Amino acid sequence: MPMPFVKAERLQKLPPYLFAEIDKKKKAALAAGRDVINLGVGDPDRPTPSAIIRSLQHHVENPAFHQYALDQGSPELRQSIASFCKARYGIDLDPNSEILPLIGSKEGIAHFPLAVLNPGEISLAPDPCYPVYRSSSLFTGADVYTMPLEPSLGFRPDLEAIPNDVFTRARLMFLNYPNNPTGGTVDLPFFQEVVDLARAHNLVIAQDAAYNEIYFDRPAPSLLQIEGARDVSIEFHSLSKTFNMTGWRVGFAIGGAPLIAALGQVKANTDSGIFTAIQFAAKTALDQYATLTPPIRALYKERRDAFLAGMRRIGWEVPTPEATFYVWIPCPKNYPSTELCSRLLDEADVVTTPGLGFGRTADGYIRAAMTVETPRLIEAVERIGKLAL
Ligand SMILES: Cc1ncc(COP(=O)(O)O)c(C=O)c1O
Repeated sequence: MPMPFVKAERLQKLPPYLFAEIDKKKKAALAAGRDVINLGVGDPDRPTPSAIIRSLQHHVENPAFHQYALDQGSPELRQSIASFCKARYGIDLDPNSEILPLIGSKEGIAHFPLAVLNPGEISLAPDPCYPVYRSSSLFTGADVYTMPLEPSLGFRPDLEAIPNDVFTRARLMFLNYPNNPTGGTVDLPFFQEVVDLARAHNLVIAQDAAYNEIYFDRPAPSLLQIEGARDVSIEFHSLSKTFNMTGWRVGFAIGGAPLIAALGQVKANTDSGIFTAIQFAAKTALDQYATLTPPIRALYKERRDAFLAGMRRIGWEVPTPEATFYVWIPCPKNYPSTELCSRLLDEADVVTTPGLGFGRTADGYIRAAMTVETPRLIEAVERIGKLAL
């Protein structure tokens, strides 16, 4: 009789997957042929713009690209990333040492703690948050300290509330603005505060800018716009949401040369780069950012406005997010988030995501993703409006 498999302790340390219940119900509803409106997934529904697809079709024919890619990314893509960052954020980056293409930003985020944290050190992670910050930190043997995102501070953490003894062990702080799931945004003075804090406490800041290009009125800033920020920080960017390219797996990190080199060292021992044809298609995307991304932003704004107007018409109080394609909805009547999501699915065939899945401070909210067409959003609102909550 073989011994039963016991998975590694690092996997046992991960928090329970709280979306499992809603996933199960969603699958059952779909299998039963119900007309489900899925506002649960943060995955753009529209296709990748055709200029990017044509670029891939062209470059995939090049036999040189069928071999292993360069670990540090192709020089042409790194140059395009530098030009994009200069045009969009006014920052000058050395394409050889301060830029690293990634197999999606998630890959870089998941690997970065291995480059920074030692066992027993502390990683600071927001609550609620994209779950990878916590899991990748725990994988290194570090502890995670939770920074609640305060609704009264516009979903920023209260940096002054972090105890000094935490700072003595802390090496890494994750931030994510524009924020998933809350839609919260920040400005340059907040980033300045964060950089000052990092300097004072010898911290590295990892800012996840996956939604930086999905803003509505004010362009989202880059942490690297703060003078000297790159000495203490790295910022993760993604082409996934900016160009409807989630399945392509391409993003990039920018930051100080030693931090980029350390992440590069982890990657060199882990993966073998991004398919070069995809890197050249990513270059096309970034080179055409000024024409390709504004219509994507405009679409999410139209959807957001239609959804919010509808929800307010049926009596729900929902704040207006300034960025991302998420709407962070306070649960009416103090419903726990998992119970509210279950009722919306069972009784209205509308899938949303419970706040609790993103962190224990977020049980009073559910998240709706504006990743279906406007008429479906309006229908979702009509169905929700018929519920007696
Ligand atoms: C906050 C946040 N960061 C990073 C990612 C990962 O994006 P990518 O497709 O670039 O790996 C996501 C994806 O949903 C996200 O929500």
